[in-house]
Amino acid sequence: MNDPNGLVWHAGRWHAFYQHNPGGPGWADMHWGHASSLDLCHWDHHPVALAPDPTLGMVFSGSAAQAEGRLAALFTHCVLQQHQVQSLAWSDDGGLTWRPEPGNPVLVEPDLPDFRDPKIAWHPPTGAWVMAVAAGQSIRLYRSPDLRQWTFASAFADGSDLPGAWECPDLFALPAPDGSRWWVMLVSVDQGGPSGGSGTWYRLGQFDGFTFDPLGPARWLSHGPDHYAGVTFSDAPGGRRVLLAWLRNWREARDLPHAGWRGAMTAPAELSLVPGEGGLRLRQTPVAELQALRGVGGAGDRFEPGGPFELHLTVGGPFRVEIGVVGGAVTLTGDGQTLRLDRSSAVPARHAATMAVPVEAPCAAGDLVVLVDHGSVEVFDAGGAHLAASLWRDLAGLVTVQGATARWWALG
Ligand code: FRU
Repeated sequence: MNDPNGLVWHAGRWHAFYQHNPGGPGWADMHWGHASSLDLCHWDHHPVALAPDPTLGMVFSGSAAQAEGRLAALFTHCVLQQHQVQSLAWSDDGGLTWRPEPGNPVLVEPDLPDFRDPKIAWHPPTGAWVMAVAAGQSIRLYRSPDLRQWTFASAFADGSDLPGAWECPDLFALPAPDGSRWWVMLVSVDQGGPSGGSGTWYRLGQFDGFTFDPLGPARWLSHGPDHYAGVTFSDAPGGRRVLLAWLRNWREARDLPHAGWRGAMTAPAELSLVPGEGGLRLRQTPVAELQALRGVGGAGDRFEPGGPFELHLTVGGPFRVEIGVVGGAVTLTGDGQTLRLDRSSAVPARHAATMAVPVEAPCAAGDLVVLVDHGSVEVFDAGGAHLAASLWRDLAGLVTVQGATARWWALG
């Protein structure tokens, strides 16, 4: 798998579609795979949801939402990896099977060779559907009364001077602690990320249904190397904003080892706004549902979880955590200003030049949540910093903590 696609809550289930090649471990012949969950923790796998169209091409990334009493998916068709157009499909059975809109494609821009990854949302104040689509180094916004006819509204290009193509936008509103309401634009860039390779930045601003006005700087959504193409679920109950991202970096994703599967998603994270130096930050927190996976645990600075685990750290100054993996250890250190993750003993030797380089995030001293799975480490800082990194050695032996108060749970 690569990108999460069509994330939507519908009839009590969280649906996660994803970029998927059913025919092999390499990127090719893209379909939408499909899984769904009642609790964001346990996922049921379903048959492939969308397959390439003989004329319009492969099924690239896109989104889904509840519309007209059923599910609608808006995604990119990519002909011969060149011409990219936006298409619509409908599902009457909760996302298992899909019927293409007869008028597909519903949006074509012949002069834009890179034009992909539509994210749709209903905008109540102006009574229209809004679509954000990546085009080169800009995000184009379109409006529609019915998801079939689209009118250009504006283009947003003032993001950064990073070299990569813009991909996988998202645009949604979040409340701040003081009650003010902000719009968040997420943009993934395939080069120039904070740990090299691909990465995702965000900007806060205002949106009137037509134009996104950024207020404040572009910031990285995650500083870890393996956090890309992240987007949020549509129609989540209670106004929740839950994000899934692809736990990989395009830099080496195509030729990493595989074992019957290749690629994974991050843990589902709830997004919120928190105050920080220089303005509000987007904060990721593991969704509360994950607490249902907690098994045995304890407090203390030496423990052997025997598998995936969750670690809470209360940090007052410099600290160091060592997580045993087969043949070595992954270390997480912090000094009140910088978080640093060194996974050099847990990456494939042939990728040591890039993957063994420690990754860093600017971070005020605070409380941290660390999620460690068989193939990944994610670090969530209370002030908004985040690191996600994949691992290629399984967990083994002790976890030791110095300079922080630790509480842990085995996850299973
Ligand atoms: C991002 C991306 C998208 C595209 C998809 C193709 O990782 O390049 O822009 O739709 O992957 O698989």
